[in-house]
Amino acid sequence: MTPLDYEFLRKFLKERSGLDLSADKQYLVESRLIPLARRVGLPGIPELVAKLKGGFEGLTAEVVEAMTTNETFFFRDKIPFDHLRETVLPELLRSRANRRSLRIWSAASSSGQEPYSIAMCLKEFASQLVGWRVEILATDLSQAVLEKSRAGIFSQFEVQRGLPIQMLVKHFTQVGELWQLNADIRAMVQHRQLNLLHDFSHLGTFDVIFCRNVLIYFDQDTKAGIFDRLARMLEPDGVLTLGAAESVVGITDTFKPYPERRGLYRPNPARVARGGAVAMMPQLFKAVASAAR
Ligand SMILES: C[S@@+](CC[C@H](N)C(=O)[O-])C[C@H]1O[C@@H](n2cnc3c(N)ncnc32)[C@H](O)[C@@H]1O
Repeated sequence: MTPLDYEFLRKFLKERSGLDLSADKQYLVESRLIPLARRVGLPGIPELVAKLKGGFEGLTAEVVEAMTTNETFFFRDKIPFDHLRETVLPELLRSRANRRSLRIWSAASSSGQEPYSIAMCLKEFASQLVGWRVEILATDLSQAVLEKSRAGIFSQFEVQRGLPIQMLVKHFTQVGELWQLNADIRAMVQHRQLNLLHDFSHLGTFDVIFCRNVLIYFDQDTKAGIFDRLARMLEPDGVLTLGAAESVVGITDTFKPYPERRGLYRPNPARVARGGAVAMMPQLFKAVASAAR
């Protein structure tokens, strides 16, 4: 790959997915894109770049997907899910008792282990949620991981990573060498393709947003912009959960740490720019959001 090809790909990926590659990541690009080039019948990266410059849209999505990192596992880092069970959900059950609805968004859901972990936590509150409208929305840039997530089928290796054995027994059915999540848990999660670089205000407001292990791939300005837009998507008492290595510190003040709960944040009311038609007409907003679902 020539330095010019690499520069083209860096800019191309940053614009399409937010991926911020440093100057020394040629090996990563080559290891992901040479196999893709061969698969689509091209000799190598220079020819792939020429096609991208020619505007082959199908190839654009394949290149972007090939460069995403989809690593995930059930109950990843454990603590966020402990916080969800022990603090966030009990509080929301109290504060939403009149409204009787809950909306949770897994904003880079990969192959589904995160939104399904959330669903399994919610299932523990089933008796208190009778009559409630509960939604878990799973979104990701990659169609391939969303397809896998929709199927809810996982390998032995995947169910051995982070999933307590009692949960496996309770919520999965063995299909040959694979494990499928039972229909009741699968039905709790809706899937949609969504690029976090694009406008997502049409999704409506959420009580909880999980946005974990995706912003680490973006530069500071992109992160700050996404944080600001996420803050507007959360109810004023809603909660944002980040990955173990992620923080808002030094990036934005639209969120403030949730007291004594590492990795959780609340919107900072002094800094969140709520406004426009959406904030002024919540009923209309909800109607639009549910029509879009
Ligand atoms: C490392 S996985 C994290 C999965 C899960 N949140 C977790 O923490 O286990 C990152 C996911 O972000 C997705 N992703 C990357 N860029 C994205 C973008 N611009 N918009 C939405 N999703 C994106 C990738 O496709 C991938 O599935």
